[in-house]
Amino acid sequence: QIKACLFDLDGVIVDTAKYHYIAWRELAAELGFEFTEEDNERLKGVSRMTSLNILLEIGGVTLSDEDKLKLAEKKNENYRTFILKMQPDEILDGAEAFLKELKAKGIRIALGSASKNAMTILDRLQLTHLFEAIIDGTKVSEAKPDPEVFLKGAEALNVKPDECVVFEDAEAGVEAALAGNMKCIGIGSPDVLGKANMVIDGLHQMSFEKLMELN
Ligand code: G6P
Ligand code: MG
Repeated sequence: QIKACLFDLDGVIVDTAKYHYIAWRELAAELGFEFTEEDNERLKGVSRMTSLNILLEIGGVTLSDEDKLKLAEKKNENYRTFILKMQPDEILDGAEAFLKELKAKGIRIALGSASKNAMTILDRLQLTHLFEAIIDGTKVSEAKPDPEVFLKGAEALNVKPDECVVFEDAEAGVEAALAGNMKCIGIGSPDVLGKANMVIDGLHQMSFEKLMELN
């Protein structure tokens, strides 16, 4: 019996990848190499530090842990100048309507994101009130594909993992949901998210009725 939905943020509710890309690209440029949109795909769902490590590997740059921390901080400050300007019209098509439909039907809602900026983003989008629990990058120690972020979400809602459906756009996120014994709806390409129970283009294709098909 499905009782709760757990949502990833970036790529599911809002497209922050474009801002992450600008900030990472600028950092790469300062370090003297190019960072492409294709490279950026590798950073989806990946934590900030792991993202930096991937970027440095692409540029063939080796740095001390201390310097890495400084660069991650610098990238985040740049990224935050973009997200602090976000507006509710940047919510992805259908996301808000689906969240409201779930709420009306009594389905519990939580966020499960790797981002340490999740609270800021939800506030900017004026969506915070729709989430009963927010588990973000500040509350977990293990990154996806580890199920920690979603298991904590289920725990906060006081539901069992097999009563949860996760919405994810990253392969590591789909793996995290399944590893947590939850059902998963992938958002994006079936080539990448094939392990999910269902794959859709976006939340505009979702409804309570369709969710119940997973029961
Ligand atoms: C999400 C995004 C990743 C990002 C990560 C950490 O998972 O998909 O691209 O690196 O969050 O975000 P943060 O806001 O903490 O730097
Ligand atoms: Mg995502």
